[in-house]
Amino acid sequence: MALRDFTVGAPATTANLGPGFDAFGLAFNLWSEVDFSFDCERTTISAEGYGAGLDSRPETNLILTAFKELCRESGVEPPRALRLRCRNRIPFGSGLGSSAAAIACGLVAANEALDLGIEAAELVDLGSRIEGHPDNIAAALLGGLTVGAMGDREEGALIASYSVDDWNVAVIKPHITIFTEDARRALPKTVAMEDAVFNIQRIAFLLSALCGGDEDTLGFAMQDRLHQEYRLPLIPGGREILDAAIGAGAAGVAVSGSGPALVAFSMKPVDGILAAMADTCLAAGIDCDQFNLKVSRDGASVIA
Ligand code: HSE
Repeated sequence: MALRDFTVGAPATTANLGPGFDAFGLAFNLWSEVDFSFDCERTTISAEGYGAGLDSRPETNLILTAFKELCRESGVEPPRALRLRCRNRIPFGSGLGSSAAAIACGLVAANEALDLGIEAAELVDLGSRIEGHPDNIAAALLGGLTVGAMGDREEGALIASYSVDDWNVAVIKPHITIFTEDARRALPKTVAMEDAVFNIQRIAFLLSALCGGDEDTLGFAMQDRLHQEYRLPLIPGGREILDAAIGAGAAGVAVSGSGPALVAFSMKPVDGILAAMADTCLAAGIDCDQFNLKVSRDGASVIA
């Protein structure tokens, strides 16, 4: 029987949110989409938006990798050929979860095409294994605020979802690329006990501040000593951009994932914060993309 064509979408995500390294993830209302069609002779991939001119070979494509992995794990044959048309609205190598969104699209598409009937929460484990950490992929698949942990082999990824307040988020993506592997190599192999305690003491406050829209606590709760001080030097003007966001009224700021995108939260409109961040980035000699975002409560899904 011929497979029905459809479109899937997945949201951009920010990981870590300061102290929640490799655990916290939050979905944004910035979505990439992929049209899947199956009435074709060979597999082809085309893209518009970010990365349109990049490698489009099926063997290196993350959407297809995820699609096929879910087929393999479910013991079903993938379709003989697929045509993918991607509308990439999430910048690549940005710290905004473009690879998690690609994996989420592939998993949701395989689930739909082959009628596997798997719940989104159950896709997180496979997605985490493909991505290497659960933070972005959990938020990309489930939406909202998620906390993820890799359990033992039997348990797989453990995920908790939280209902988060309606934050406004100013995001800039400086025009440099930082690959996650490089940003992870910049981190120390061990951390001081006092730095671990510093982060632990902020985590519970981070959860309650994000969920409760508590601007007074968020600045404290987003402080981190495990990764950001090693990563900010990779972003020209990075520290000054975060300081500018606070100066313009942001309640809390962070490096988004492994960078170079930077995020600033407020319950009020963030146009002024965004402008201050972009101006400071430009003053450091680098142009940037600017995004004025909200939280997405929805995760990846079939949208048409
Ligand atoms: N938690 C990961 C990291 C996210 O910070 O390396 C990568 O986007």
